Amino acid sequence: MRERLEELRREALAIVAEAGEEARLREVEVRFLGRNGEITGLLRQLGSLPADQRPAAGREANLVKAALQEALDQRRDQLQQASLARELRGEGFDPTLPGPPPPAGALHPLSQVQRRLEDLFSSMGFLVADGPEVEWESYNFDALNIPPDHPAREAQDTIFVRAPQATAEASAAAESDGKADGVVLRSHTSTVQIRALKKHGPPLRVVAPGRVFRQEAQDATHEHTFHQMEGLVVDRGVGVAHMLHAMNSLLEGLFGRKLETRLRPGFFPFVEPGFELDARCPFCDSGCRVCKGSTWIELMPGGLVHPNVLEACDVDPEVYSGYAFGLGLSRVVMLSYGIDDIRWLLSGDLRFLRQFPS
Ligand code: PHE
Repeated sequence: MRERLEELRREALAIVAEAGEEARLREVEVRFLGRNGEITGLLRQLGSLPADQRPAAGREANLVKAALQEALDQRRDQLQQASLARELRGEGFDPTLPGPPPPAGALHPLSQVQRRLEDLFSSMGFLVADGPEVEWESYNFDALNIPPDHPAREAQDTIFVRAPQATAEASAAAESDGKADGVVLRSHTSTVQIRALKKHGPPLRVVAPGRVFRQEAQDATHEHTFHQMEGLVVDRGVGVAHMLHAMNSLLEGLFGRKLETRLRPGFFPFVEPGFELDARCPFCDSGCRVCKGSTWIELMPGGLVHPNVLEACDVDPEVYSGYAFGLGLSRVVMLSYGIDDIRWLLSGDLRFLRQFPS
């Protein structure tokens, strides 16, 4: 056994001394010291030796093991040093090799859906319009025929940046520099109806995607900041059928196929008549969690632009009519990707965002 050990030791050390790369060292490690290695095997045979020879043989075998392990570690170290030195001298470094690919970002799922819809409506001749997120109270409410005592105007619902001027003097002073109006974070994209119509006048076709803000107790379906996309068309002879066609096209663009839809009456001060559009649940045939078992999902409100809104924008309601709809972008993004909590959308959490490559 002694001789065999000595043989193995010499053989192993010789290979280690000559090894030119780390892979070779790993081979040696496995071959001699591994679980089925040659030295390990020899150690296992200790039990078959006469009892008085066992301690000495055991000691020797362990010494050989330790010596080999040390030789391996040393050689590995040398090889690493040498390769580092080569690299530092510029050898073995190929500057023409392509670098590691930079990590690619992707558009936020909200942006992806928004762009898809912008493309769709652009192709139908709509302008993509924009408006400020910090908005006059009068644009957010009055011009949209929302009365002064409407509950949506309460500070519990709308985020006020500046209260309207309350006292007569303050109001008079403010009026002289045009600032009697309150200032809010817009609570819906319907403000862009007013801005676009005042700016361009009829005939007009616009969509206006953007962020809106509400004072909300936050939970899985309520966020203080979310996204909507407003649609507005004003022209001669515009009616409900036109609106329905635009809404159906929107849904087809969104879900990739035609969905059965229905209109229910709905009330919004800035439209008359007003509707809620429901679509057949795109996710089931017979009722599921998303449609709460009803096979219909409420998708988007809309209606014919109220004459008072047209008048507020200096458009003659005797000549022109129009329709408007308000798509909840955040909601349809959640629907189309199966996102179960709205708070993920603006969380900035990379674990969430990485699931949406462009
Ligand atoms: N602005 C409304 C809201 O935020 C939605 C809407 C838009 C309703 C256009 C009708 C027409 O709830």
